[in-house]
Amino acid sequence: MAVKDMKRVFSGVQPTGNIHIGNYLGAMKQFIELQNENECLYCIVDMHSITLPQDPKQLRQHILDVAALYMAIGLDPKKSIIFVQSDVSGHAELSWVLTCNSYTGELSRMTQFKQKSKGRESAPTGLFTYPVLMAADILLYDTDIVPVGNDQKQHIELTRDIAIRINNKYGKTFVVPDGKFVKSGARIMALDNPDAKMSKSAENPHSRISLLDEPSKIKKSIMKSTTDSEGVIRFDVEHKPGISNLLSIYSVFADETVEALEARYEGRGYGDLKKDLVEVVINNLTPIQERFKEIRQSQELLDVLQDGAERAGVIAEATMKRVKDRFGLGWK
Ligand code: TYM
Repeated sequence: MAVKDMKRVFSGVQPTGNIHIGNYLGAMKQFIELQNENECLYCIVDMHSITLPQDPKQLRQHILDVAALYMAIGLDPKKSIIFVQSDVSGHAELSWVLTCNSYTGELSRMTQFKQKSKGRESAPTGLFTYPVLMAADILLYDTDIVPVGNDQKQHIELTRDIAIRINNKYGKTFVVPDGKFVKSGARIMALDNPDAKMSKSAENPHSRISLLDEPSKIKKSIMKSTTDSEGVIRFDVEHKPGISNLLSIYSVFADETVEALEARYEGRGYGDLKKDLVEVVINNLTPIQERFKEIRQSQELLDVLQDGAERAGVIAEATMKRVKDRFGLGWK
């Protein structure tokens, strides 16, 4: 396929540790399929992660962890540009321009901000403008497609609104992107509380399965997971959120439909389903973990990130030149 016929894809993951199966099934798994037919940029969004305090030494390690995980799940640095957000200065520059073209009203409506700032008298400004930096990430690369989990839908909408607003006011400046969401797995729920989404920061480690969890930990988390007392295995998010979540995870990892699973487990107990799911998850994660260990120790990783930053930087520079022209900013 000629490069000009290809779509541009951009997505990012925060290097805050505990990358879990929600991140994988909701977003990262899509990255791999997309890299064969598109021009893809996959970013480690370290500047987003400092919206809340991070230990600097640990942050650097977590950046390398995400880079190694990207490659361990199957991203090929020859096909995809893998890079660190703060290595390309255009993200911060464009973010300011977009900040000047967004409104406190629309940012106040972002549910993620509302959740993260809950109970605080005063929240860090970065937490408030977080979605604008995310819009900058996307618009900087003339992105067509943004593969993400459902929790980012509102941020993608905001990105589109800002792009359209600027295009209308200053003439065509940005490509208006579309979000891309998987049919099954776009919102994986916490194992200990299926009413909340699985998250990196939840205190209970058994609420999630991290991609690097040991088999014994995976087993414990799944066997302990919250279900219901009905004893029937069927998909019904409203009445049976726990079992429905387990069925979704099973379905995507095993590449089987939920209907097929419901049929197989008819008349059987939750224990059977959980035991089989443990095996399915371990079988899927073991090869990723083995590749991760190898890549994480290799010198290749830093070379990949440097090469990625250079390639991303070329695209970003061209966009920033265009943006500066449109807004009448300086020349360099
Ligand atoms: P982050 O780091 O929280 O999550 C990375 C990706 O995982 C998805 N995700 C989930 N999907 C299904 N079930 C879940 N429980 C679950 N939890 C997380 C997220 O939707 C995301 O796709 N703001 C973003 C990072 C970002 C970004 C961007 C993404 C910054 N700039 C530009 C796309 C484009 C975030 O915090 O993701």
